[in-house]
Amino acid sequence: MTFDLFDALPADPDTPPATEPLGPGAVVLRGFARDLGSALLQAVGEVSAGSPFRHLITPGGLRMSVAMTNCGEQGWVSDRTGYRYDPVDPDTGRPWPAMPGAFRQLALDAAEAAGYPGFAPDACLINRYLPGTRLSLHQDRDELDLRAPIVSVSLGLPAIFLWGGLRRADRPSRVRLAHGDVVVWGGPSRLVFHGIAPLAAGDHALTGSERINLTFRKTH
Ligand code: SIN
Ligand code: FE2
Repeated sequence: MTFDLFDALPADPDTPPATEPLGPGAVVLRGFARDLGSALLQAVGEVSAGSPFRHLITPGGLRMSVAMTNCGEQGWVSDRTGYRYDPVDPDTGRPWPAMPGAFRQLALDAAEAAGYPGFAPDACLINRYLPGTRLSLHQDRDELDLRAPIVSVSLGLPAIFLWGGLRRADRPSRVRLAHGDVVVWGGPSRLVFHGIAPLAAGDHALTGSERINLTFRKTH
């Protein structure tokens, strides 16, 4: 008979979540948001009741496969005239829904755990992926303040995060992000090219066939 002692030990609630370096100034905080998952998803439902998900049009005229909405003082939008942050949702003509307190706190805590204390995001982009949805390599560079990091929370179905370099041509590494994982990048990695490979089909207990991503940014 075999008996694995470690199977018998309860998980230590004081064990900090695993931190996985991605590059200088960039980490994956494994499972950092896992316990908050259902509360965060409920809040996403409330935000999207006020400002519905939509497929934005790129300046080049293509419809993005990711569906997006925003909460906070600023929202990221794209149309034929370019990319911008806008305090008003162009689809509703109203300000974006307020950033839920739990979102703000999570972003602050995750940034601090990654070495960026005092993070005060004014924008949260919410991305919704279905099987086949992808996000091509890009830099987050529409923010006026590049000293603040990006905090990115994965919920629901797992995805392959493409983590490249400072040049578009740098070959990206592939990092699996699961429900509750949080990626933080800033400092020397702030302008690293990144993206999401086409989402694989699956069934998640909380989101079914979807992946939801929250991206927190300080834009002003
Ligand atoms: C983004 O780069 O805006 C989103 C990344 C992700 O969905 O994890
Ligand atoms: Fe991005």
